Amino acid sequence: MNYTSYGLVNTQKMFSDALGNGYAVPAFNFYNMETLMAIMTAAQECRSPVILAVSESALKYMGSRMLMGMISGLGLDGKTPIALHLDHGGSVDACRAAVDLGFSSVMIDASKLSIDENIDITRTVVEYAHAHHVSVEAELGILAGIEDENTSSTYGNYTNPDDVVRFVHATGVDSLAIAIGTSHGAYKRKSDDEKLRFDILELIAEKLPSFPLVLHGASSVPGKLVDIINTYGGDMHGARGIAPDQLRMATSMNICKINVDSDSRLAFTAAMRSYLTQHPDVFDPRKYLGLARDMITQNCIDEIRTIMNSENRY
Ligand code: G3H
Ligand code: 13P
Ligand code: ZN
Repeated sequence: MNYTSYGLVNTQKMFSDALGNGYAVPAFNFYNMETLMAIMTAAQECRSPVILAVSESALKYMGSRMLMGMISGLGLDGKTPIALHLDHGGSVDACRAAVDLGFSSVMIDASKLSIDENIDITRTVVEYAHAHHVSVEAELGILAGIEDENTSSTYGNYTNPDDVVRFVHATGVDSLAIAIGTSHGAYKRKSDDEKLRFDILELIAEKLPSFPLVLHGASSVPGKLVDIINTYGGDMHGARGIAPDQLRMATSMNICKINVDSDSRLAFTAAMRSYLTQHPDVFDPRKYLGLARDMITQNCIDEIRTIMNSENRY
């Protein structure tokens, strides 16, 4: 089914608006009803465009019929900027299947392959997706922490600005995830002093001034959520994300999409741990799942306001 039947939009206009106005569209991952509702409530309350991101493993967890049933249940009108995006699609087949299901955007992540193989696979996905007006994101460079920097070449595992123009032109891709020091998960860096490689971002933006760039692994790992988890029996000592001022800087540059998954997982876990410890007699899941939903909504709202700068954009 085509995504327009679900009232979804692709990311084309979202990104040109974001690029022209110095903000980033948040891509929040979800994997069940509570996480989807939490993101949508934040988007509606802030009037922020949002990309609903589903990884391949999240798609498997929900099942495609259940997922698309929930998307249908949102009752979208095709005018509100809400996209459904396959996150880290690992193969051409996975991307094609997502297009056929009704996704309005797909990521093909062939970043671990050689650049020529990455170009071939990405171009194949672009041909299929564009025939259905679906947007395509690809990735160049390997996401890793600053501490993993490979000093044997100028850019190590970071995105080499010299490759970007060739890649974008050869593939026809709509946006590109770049590696400038972010990484997935809740343990990204040893101290807040570690900075992103804005020099690389600047060089890329100079070569492609009006091309949308994407930041993966961009959770800020709010200390207050980590503290709640640690207080109520968890052990996430040393968890640290990307400092919000670094992310704000990125959104004011050519980063048009910022991916956040870990922060919502932290909010979910903090809610569950604190609620169940404080209410040992409660066994109605709606009580603690409801709190989890509310805490994710609050965190998404905070990030829309303080990091993405995407409030009141429609
Ligand atoms: O970047 C990856 C996302 O955080 C999704 O992770 O495959 O565990 O759902 P997942
Ligand atoms: P985080 O682990 O920083 O939330 O990154 C999420 C992400 O990049 C999803 O693709
Ligand atoms: Zn990612």
